[in-house]
Order: sequence, then structure tokens, then C-alpha cells
Amino acid sequence: MKLWGGRFTKATDKSVEEFNASIQYDCRMYAEDICGSIAHATMLAKQGIISQEDKDAIVSGLKTIYEQIEAGDFEFSVELEDIHMNVEKRLTDAIGEAGKRLHTGRSRNDQVALDTHMYIRKEIAAIAKLLIQLQQSLVSAAEKHKDVIMPGYTHLQRAQPVLFSHHMMAYFSMLSRDFIHLQYAWDMADMMPLGAGALAGTTYPLDQPFVAKTLHFGKLYDNSLDAVSDRDYIIAFLEFAAVLMMHLSRLSEEFILWSSSEFKFIELDDSHCTGSSIMPQKKNPDICELVRGKTGRFYGHLMGVLTMMKGIPMAYDKDMQEDKEGVFDAIDNLKFALTIYAAMIDKMTVNKEHMREVLETDFSNATDMADYLAKKGLPFREAHAVVGKAVHYCIEKGKVLQQLSLEELQAMSPLFAEDIHHYLDIEICVDQRNTYNGTAPSSVERQCRDGHQTVHTEQEQMDQWSDIVSTVYDLVK
Ligand code: ARG
Repeated sequence: MKLWGGRFTKATDKSVEEFNASIQYDCRMYAEDICGSIAHATMLAKQGIISQEDKDAIVSGLKTIYEQIEAGDFEFSVELEDIHMNVEKRLTDAIGEAGKRLHTGRSRNDQVALDTHMYIRKEIAAIAKLLIQLQQSLVSAAEKHKDVIMPGYTHLQRAQPVLFSHHMMAYFSMLSRDFIHLQYAWDMADMMPLGAGALAGTTYPLDQPFVAKTLHFGKLYDNSLDAVSDRDYIIAFLEFAAVLMMHLSRLSEEFILWSSSEFKFIELDDSHCTGSSIMPQKKNPDICELVRGKTGRFYGHLMGVLTMMKGIPMAYDKDMQEDKEGVFDAIDNLKFALTIYAAMIDKMTVNKEHMREVLETDFSNATDMADYLAKKGLPFREAHAVVGKAVHYCIEKGKVLQQLSLEELQAMSPLFAEDIHHYLDIEICVDQRNTYNGTAPSSVERQCRDGHQTVHTEQEQMDQWSDIVSTVYDLVK
């Protein structure tokens, strides 16, 4: 019989049972379910709601179930619908009466909320580590290739020379914002819903602060209806994940372009590429394409939960069971993407000479020529026009700006002097852009220094999260 079967006279239809069940995916929250139940049972005994003996039987029974699941020695049953009832049924089968007292003062509605909060906190700690690792790879790449100059682009047209390191550190900055997003997701998840019961609170003298403390939650919910029906923390996590994937997707697009024969700026390591089953010469950046492609489903997961939530009346509705699969999928794919990207950046080769060649045969220094004239007093708009003409002249002659002789230049503007060729040098163009966040080596070095500091601060946060998570899961040891 079902745990809730009392008022029913017929068995559940088989396809209803299967459609209704969530055990196929929520089984991954077994550790959360068991730790949450240990905290709940401990509190029930402390409050005199169940006896010490019952509590001891429950706790040791739950620990055995944990070991069985860990050992792969637990068959989850669709008939029992979800992780909560799978565990509870097994507990009752094992210890009898006492097991049936565990669900006192609790509903699956606050139980599933608790488990999901805990699960997301655990994964946030794990993902923080991988995110930091990727940031470290970006700073290392910036430091390793600090003398590489590449064409910077707008509209995917060569625009101005930038340090390759500057380009890497732009992604570092994006990921630093992702970390802030992750902190927000943690704060949203760090709230303890137990005690809300099905929706209205419970009639037992529960000690909710005690449960929160046992499970290391920062806050309690103020309102029981909200506690069981809040999914903002899931949305916050999916927002974080969607934006992070958008950043990785942009990087993917660049890596795909840069590793093409048309660009030849980088080469990804063989271990991160795949070949073609028909074209022997191919080396494809599949991983980058997959990250770019998977970004779509991350947006989908976020949109799915937002849409699922928008029309449901309080408090719990079964719609909310749909909150999990997308998050789980996002977590799994994100962990892969972050791990592989860190290694891919560590191992890629950067084609410094080719990028330099491209720069030397194009017009990325045109702005610098205009700036030169403007600094000599010509209004910038006029300077822009002079250089525009110079570029046009060069294209006709098959030259680039630095190949023009002083005579040719002075025919265009008398303001040109000997030193113009110095200012057209690609290295000087980069050096000159020494504003606070510009591409000059001094700025990029500062970005890397600050980057190390950011990573350090993030690591402290991550350690704090990891400590919380590992202490909580010690409950089951
Ligand atoms: N499997 C359910 C979920 O994931 C658990 C809560 C079910 N509660 C209920 N009253 N049906 O949302």
C-alpha cells in the first residue's frame, strides 16, 4: 500500500504512477534527504515529540540506508514515487514503528524544499571551485602570453591591436561577475524551510532554529506558505548558470574562429578536439561547439522554471516537481564545461607570429595615426578624415600605413614628422593605451594582480561553503 493509501480504494494506474513519479531523477538527493531526516528526528526527540529510543533507531536506520545507497545496494521504486518515500518506506521496513514516527510535524512539501536547498548549496560549493579554477587558467594564460599582441575586433573587423592577455582578462572579469551571481544563489538557497509542514506550519512544538543550526542554514523562512512554494533559489541558480554559459559560449565562438585556418590564432590541444569520420585532415573544436550549443538548453531550463512558477496558486502544487530536472542537467553540464575549459586554456598554443603578421599587414594602427595628428592640434574629426584618405591611398597602392614615406605623409598633412613611424609601431600603439582598464601592459599587469586577489577572496568564500557542506554531510557518518 502507498504511504498515503488510506483513503483510496483503488490502485494507482500504472502509467499515472510512472508519470507522477520523480524518483528517476530526485534519487540523487538521497544524502540531503537522509541528513535532513536525521536533523528532523534529532529535533523531534529533543522536543519530547518522539522518544530517544525511537530517534536512535531512526538515525541508525537512516545511516544504514545511506550506506546501502552509496554501495549501490538500494533499488529505487517508481511505486514509491520519490526519494522521500523510498527512504521512509525502507526505514519503516527495517525498524518498524519508530520509522513511522519520522514524518511527524513534517510534510513532503517542506521536505522536498529542504532537500533541494541543501542539494543546491552543495553543488554551489563544488561549482565555485571549478569556476575559480577556470579563472586561474585565464590569469595564467594572460601571464604566460603577456607579450602576444593580437588584432582586436569590432564588428568582427580588425579594429585596434590589443594584448592577447587583455582579451583573456576580459573573460576573467565576466567570470568574476558570475561568482557574485553564485554568491547570490547561495544566499537564496541558504534558507531552511522545514517546519512549514504542508503549508501552514505544524501543531507540534518544533524547534526550527535548532534544525537550521544542525544543517548550517543561515536563515529561516518568515512565512510557511512562502517556505514551501519558494523556488527563487532555483531560479537564481539557473540565472547564474545561464549567464555563465553565455560567457563561455562567447569564448567558444572565439576559440572556434581562432582555431580555423582562416584565423590560425590558436591551436587547441589534440586531447580537446575530435576528427572527422570521412575527412582525414579535420581537427574539429567540438567541445567549444557543444558549449555554445548547450547554452540554449540552459536558457530553456531558466525559462522553464520561470514559466512553471508564474501561474500557480500558493502553496505547493505538483507543477513544482518540474523544478528539478533542468537544475540537475545544468549542474552536470556546467561542471563538465568548466573543467574542460580550464584544461583547454592551459593546453592551447598561441600563434604569436601569425597574429603579428596579420597586424603588420593591416590598418589596426589607423586610430593611432589620427591621434598623432590630433595631439599636434588638428581637430580629431579632421585628423580622422586625413587618415581615412591615407588608408584609401594605401589600399590602392597595396601598402599599409607604416610603409608610407615621410614625403607621402607630409603631402597629406604637414603635421607629420619623423616620429610618426614610431607611433605607428604596433607595440607602441598598445603601450599608449594606458588608461586604467586599457590594453597597455601596465594595465594588464594590474588586471592580473587584481585577478589574483579576486581569486584569493573567492577561495575564502568557497572554503567557507565547503566547510558548511562537509560538516552537514558528516551527520550521516
Ligand atoms: N516529488 C515531489 C516534488 O518533487 C515531492 C513533494 C510532493 N508533495 C506532494 N504533496 N505531492 O515536488
